[in-house]
Amino acid sequence: MGSIEDWPEPVVCVKSLSESANLLIPDQYIKPPQERPSLCPTDTNIPVIDLAGLISSREETMTQMLEACREWGFLQLVNHGVKTELVDQAREIWREFFHQPMEVKKKYANSPKTYEGFGSRLGVEKGAILDWNDYYYLNYRPFFQTKWPDHPPSLRDVMEEYSKEILRLGKILLKVLSINLGLKEDCLQNAFGGEDVGTCLRANFYPKCPQPELTLGLSSHSDPGGMAFLIPDKQVSGLQILKDDRWIVVKLEPNAIIVNIGDQLQVLSNAIYKSVEHRVVVNPEIERASLAYFYNPRNDMIIQPILKLVTSKRPALYPPMTFEEYRRFIRTRGPQGKLQVNSLKSPR
Ligand code: OGA
Ligand code: NI
Repeated sequence: MGSIEDWPEPVVCVKSLSESANLLIPDQYIKPPQERPSLCPTDTNIPVIDLAGLISSREETMTQMLEACREWGFLQLVNHGVKTELVDQAREIWREFFHQPMEVKKKYANSPKTYEGFGSRLGVEKGAILDWNDYYYLNYRPFFQTKWPDHPPSLRDVMEEYSKEILRLGKILLKVLSINLGLKEDCLQNAFGGEDVGTCLRANFYPKCPQPELTLGLSSHSDPGGMAFLIPDKQVSGLQILKDDRWIVVKLEPNAIIVNIGDQLQVLSNAIYKSVEHRVVVNPEIERASLAYFYNPRNDMIIQPILKLVTSKRPALYPPMTFEEYRRFIRTRGPQGKLQVNSLKSPR
């Protein structure tokens, strides 16, 4: 294991690699055969939830939500009330960032200490197999540490506006998730820190790849935080989730925002809700951009199964740990499927 202060070897921007006109990808991006993108063709899709149904057909929508969080850990939200133009702008402004010259992006190069800024790798293990992806990672709330790019100039305002919408949606969903667990409606929001939730975002850029069958845009992982809101690319799919040991392609619903359960909600719900492994495949002809917004517990909140969900039949599956401790625990590694949250499980 390398030091967490710096990367173990020079970081290569994947977009630059993609533009180098090589027909072969470097060895460091070639996954072992069992991790390469194989697909079981299937007609199933993740649940689509109409948020307007919370008013017009509440009971049915609540039931759909419960099933989505328990069986899938993933859903697509439609009629979410966020303007289509704002959703598109939030994704496209980051695409614009990635399309700037390397000299500009280099100014924001990140380190594994906080990951904040522009980066092209996760984990500090020397010689690790890498993902075909560049990203920009930002701690958004609390505000003081945020490392914003200066360009595009309207990026900050757009994110500010988009963030307000996600905070609104996050609150609504945590209420629904609480009620569905038989808890008071503000229970999960309070467990996250009340009004002081933490948020961060990860803008993803997946350049065209000449050998997409050998690599991944993002390796299998579950999201460490509370809940993730993802704006996928409009032109090209690529997100897959693991369901019953099969990889399922997320088929995009127009203007939907994809929502998924993170590890902290799995812990708080004592594994009634599941954080589910997902990954991204890349494409030889089309680049892909996405924006993941993570709605998390405040860093210093101690996260453990909610008392009401712990019974003699179903003892607490996880020990208490602050979200900050959990983050530190996973930061030195790259994507690890669900190893991280599973390794927490109390021995019994
Ligand atoms: C992530 C993620 C999926 C995507 O950033 O954690 O899972 O479609 N992204 O880019
Ligand atoms: Ni993810």
